[in-house]
Amino acid sequence: MSGEGKKLKLRSASWFGSNDKNGFMYRSWMKNQGIPDHHFDNKPIIGICNTWSELTPCNGHLRELAEKVKNGVREAGGIPVEFPVFSNGESNLRPSAMLTRNLAAMDTEEAIRGNPIDGVVLLVGCDKTTPALLMGAASCNLPTIVVTGGPMLNGKHQGQDVGSGTLVWQTHEDFKAGNITLDEFLSAESSMSRSTGTCNTMGTASTMACIVESLGVSLPQNAAIPAPDSRRRVLAHMSGMRIVEMVREDLKLSKILSKDAFINAIKTVAAIGGSTNAVIHLKAIAGRVGVSLSLEDWRHGYDIPTIVNLQPSGQYLMEDFYYAGGLPVVLRTLTENNQLAGDAMTVNGHTIWDNVKAAKCFNNAVIKPFQTPIFANGGIRILRGNLAPRGAVIKPSAASTHLLKHRGKAVVFESFDHYKQRINDPDLDISASSVMVLKNCGPKGYPGMAEVGNMGLPPKLLKQGVTDMVRISDARMSGTAFGTVVLHVAPEAMDCGPLAAVRDGDYIELDAFAGTLRLDINEDELARRIEHLESQQLNVRSGGYLELFRERVLQADEGCDFDFLVGCRGAEVPPHSH
Ligand code: FES
Repeated sequence: MSGEGKKLKLRSASWFGSNDKNGFMYRSWMKNQGIPDHHFDNKPIIGICNTWSELTPCNGHLRELAEKVKNGVREAGGIPVEFPVFSNGESNLRPSAMLTRNLAAMDTEEAIRGNPIDGVVLLVGCDKTTPALLMGAASCNLPTIVVTGGPMLNGKHQGQDVGSGTLVWQTHEDFKAGNITLDEFLSAESSMSRSTGTCNTMGTASTMACIVESLGVSLPQNAAIPAPDSRRRVLAHMSGMRIVEMVREDLKLSKILSKDAFINAIKTVAAIGGSTNAVIHLKAIAGRVGVSLSLEDWRHGYDIPTIVNLQPSGQYLMEDFYYAGGLPVVLRTLTENNQLAGDAMTVNGHTIWDNVKAAKCFNNAVIKPFQTPIFANGGIRILRGNLAPRGAVIKPSAASTHLLKHRGKAVVFESFDHYKQRINDPDLDISASSVMVLKNCGPKGYPGMAEVGNMGLPPKLLKQGVTDMVRISDARMSGTAFGTVVLHVAPEAMDCGPLAAVRDGDYIELDAFAGTLRLDINEDELARRIEHLESQQLNVRSGGYLELFRERVLQADEGCDFDFLVGCRGAEVPPHSH
């Protein structure tokens, strides 16, 4: 072994470093995998925490990527050990992958803390896998680096580039409006997802990948290199090499995840036109590392122009983004315009500014100049008012400008089932100026806060050519979706929030510019209605994990973590198991 390794006080030595009964046991069982004696001689053990699963198709290539990480770890003198954690894929899991984000975070945290691990590589991709693993790792606070699976290649359909998810919403509305046939609708399926990787729009997966890079917890260019591109595999190799050095430098996650890093991430979300889900996940990650982050901190993004021209806010896809220079160009542009804390530390031991100062833009249509953005003030807006005392969010860059200030009559759906029963009714009393209100889809109500907030418009209005309406709910929305959609209303209806008190015909006032959301009824009447609300018990199964979830999940403004999981518990070595 190297002399350098001998100087280290490794955590894993508490398992493998003693010549007694315990050391015998820990080493002996590991040896059945063909590990030679000298590998236990004070070499950094790197846990590769893998969310590979055939049920999470976006992460289906991560075992191959893990091999590249292992090559890098070995080259740097470390010992890689790959292990699985719960993989919560967005496309298959019902009722919502969000329901199991905290479960995956718990799995990650306990797997790291309970095992002989000195440093961690998180292999993530699909929407919830990234925040889940980062939350779990942050609660342990070992040296940690993130490797994302990377986005799919551009979808190709009928001669056009088509984006993951965004194509689904668009073609479904076209089909309901009678603009395309069922055959045309179904033929788009195979064209959208034609390579390994995550959604290729600036949906939640890409947003979280960009957040990871802007937080400094991945190597530069991690966010956008397409999944099948050989450079993704090189990045995995280099990340494997780097994590071994991070262990030697004792560069823990908490040294990277500073308050400045989180504000940088908020500004980055505005610049990329990122997903509203970022509001919930960033809060939850910050909570795990002890950084105070509130909804008010999203004001830092209000004046940031959206310069990344990607669907659903814009035109292009992640593959184009990488070829245009990727996230380093965005970070350089923001720093040069005095918008980022360039001295924030990153996992490669350099500051953000050091990493991006030489970044070049190769396509100004995809990454626009700061002075000529696609939206001048693209940041996610926080709304407050008597309808959302603890806040709600809207993404102006995905909304219709003329609806951002709007007053309309409420059409209320008490649940998503109620919405499905009513929405196709030709006699439904609804017009383009109505405000669609969806209740009981929040963290506890659905449960898991499903991505149903961008509820489809009534077919009778679609046929009239209506393309957007104001929609309000306590649900979330897919990052690939668009529309004038107010989300994350807190407290949720299930918790007797004012949203539960809205009735058909009430007037609602939205002013995204002023940051307000009001139910226009007498305050005494609102108080009376809230007083008479009874916490509703929806028809969902009880017991098991669902019961834990509904009892302990925090509201959207608090990041939807479990109350007992907030905070960093460190990675103190637990007592021996025998
Ligand atoms: Fe997995 Fe979009 S469904 S990244």
